[in-house]
Amino acid sequence: MVGKCWGKRILSFVKIKHQERGTSVQSSLLYFFYILGFLSLSIIFHLSEKIFYYGTSTKNTYNSSLIEQISLKHIAPNSSLSSGAINVGIWTVNCIGRLGNRMGQYATLYSLAKLNGYQAYIHPEMHSALSPVFKITLPVIPAEVFRKIQWKNVYLHDWMSEDYRHIQGKYVQLTGYPCSYTFYHHIRQEILKEFTFHDHIKEDVNHYLQIMRGERQNVTYVGVHVRRGDYVRVMPKAWKGVVADKGYLEKAMNYFRKKYLNPIFVVTSNGMEWCKKNINASMGDVYYAGDGKEGSPGRDFALLSHCNHTIMTIGTFGIWAAYLAGGEAVYLANYTLPDSPFLKVFKPSAAFLPEWIGIPADLSPLLPKP
Ligand SMILES: *[C@@H]1O[C@H](CO)[C@@H](O)[C@H](O)[C@H]1NC(C)=O
Ligand SMILES: *[C@@H]1O[C@H](CO)[C@@H](O)[C@H](O)[C@H]1NC(C)=O
Ligand SMILES: *[C@@H]1O[C@H](CO)[C@@H](O)[C@H](O)[C@H]1NC(C)=O
Ligand SMILES: *[C@@H]1O[C@H](CO)[C@@H](O)[C@H](O)[C@H]1NC(C)=O
Ligand SMILES: *[C@@H]1O[C@H](CO)[C@@H](O)[C@H](O)[C@H]1NC(C)=O
Ligand SMILES: *[C@@H]1O[C@H](CO)[C@@H](O)[C@H](O)[C@H]1NC(C)=O
Repeated sequence: MVGKCWGKRILSFVKIKHQERGTSVQSSLLYFFYILGFLSLSIIFHLSEKIFYYGTSTKNTYNSSLIEQISLKHIAPNSSLSSGAINVGIWTVNCIGRLGNRMGQYATLYSLAKLNGYQAYIHPEMHSALSPVFKITLPVIPAEVFRKIQWKNVYLHDWMSEDYRHIQGKYVQLTGYPCSYTFYHHIRQEILKEFTFHDHIKEDVNHYLQIMRGERQNVTYVGVHVRRGDYVRVMPKAWKGVVADKGYLEKAMNYFRKKYLNPIFVVTSNGMEWCKKNINASMGDVYYAGDGKEGSPGRDFALLSHCNHTIMTIGTFGIWAAYLAGGEAVYLANYTLPDSPFLKVFKPSAAFLPEWIGIPADLSPLLPKP
């Protein structure tokens, strides 16, 4: 599905071109909205104030039943993030794609709102996607409030740029598929805190890892994420690229086998059958984990993130697992032809941390047969 998302990136790129032309119309609409929608906005202002000044009772001079009408119960009472906000307004981000994409959108919103001095809020859908897994803290905008706001949509490409520190607007919705450490690496600790797993997930995963280890001491867990599914078709067809093959996985695993005494490879994939056929498990250090179901990525993700090191193939899921695991990370490098349109939306240097280790892909399947 991330392949599909990369298709949508282009669509959003086209859309934003239209939006640029419509800017003046949009801003006058926005102006009218300020007047006509005053009542609902004033509720929002109060709501924001309540969050900004939570705990300082002198500020709470308005009637709180109004706030209850827009179901304040959705909002975490201890939003420590509010300290970053200096301007009154609401910033949010679109919620599209799968887990890895959404984490990228969340982290980018967190960082850019902070850099621009606004309070970040998330869409209820983002909350229901991420909160079962992580102890996220950004407050939620109730759906009915979300609908009432005339958002200024700001399309982001997938790497940080200077102008993103100076985005204008009180009601900004960031759009696109941002998922680059260049947006948020300067506040890495805060981002990692947002993506802290719930205790029951941690316990589950640690228990599972213990079982794999058995009696062995000093093992090193290497999470292996093998992205298959739609990518297998999308990469060559739409992007002049390849997915990870048998040779790549062997090289990546041998890197860890040479370096660590007792490696344990924890393989998660949405194409487990392929993995079982193509990964050489004869050394007894390969474990096929997770349920391989597309619909329940949370557990696989937690498992990868709790490993000491990471082997990625392609996709934001593996990139996030490596970022959270925080150990050594091996990635598939240069997996498209140089003239691939993919390189217009994806900058490898903004996706992979400099210290991560790239192993170049074998592009020969894309070349004309001799
Ligand atoms: C707040 O509003 C509710 C309903 O509009 C009203 O019943 C209540 O008395 C008000 N409280 C204060 C402190 O004004
Ligand atoms: C919220 O803050 C209060 C007071 O600072 C603290 O006692 C409480 O444990 C916090 N709750 C959560 C869920 O962090
Ligand atoms: C495990 O590793 C530590 C540090 O490298 C070492 O001190 C210890 O002896 C090792 N234990 C075993 C059982 O190999
Ligand atoms: C799997 O690895 C073992 C040990 O390195 C090797 O002897 C064997 O030939 C390999 N099997 C395949 C099918 O590559
Ligand atoms: C490796 O990962 C396991 C499981 O998360 C953890 O218990 C262990 O402390 C880690 N080892 C190192 C050296 O970080
Ligand atoms: C990927 O290609 C670029 C440009 O040809 C090259 O500079 C880089 O070293 C390659 N990366 C890897 C990991 O091979």
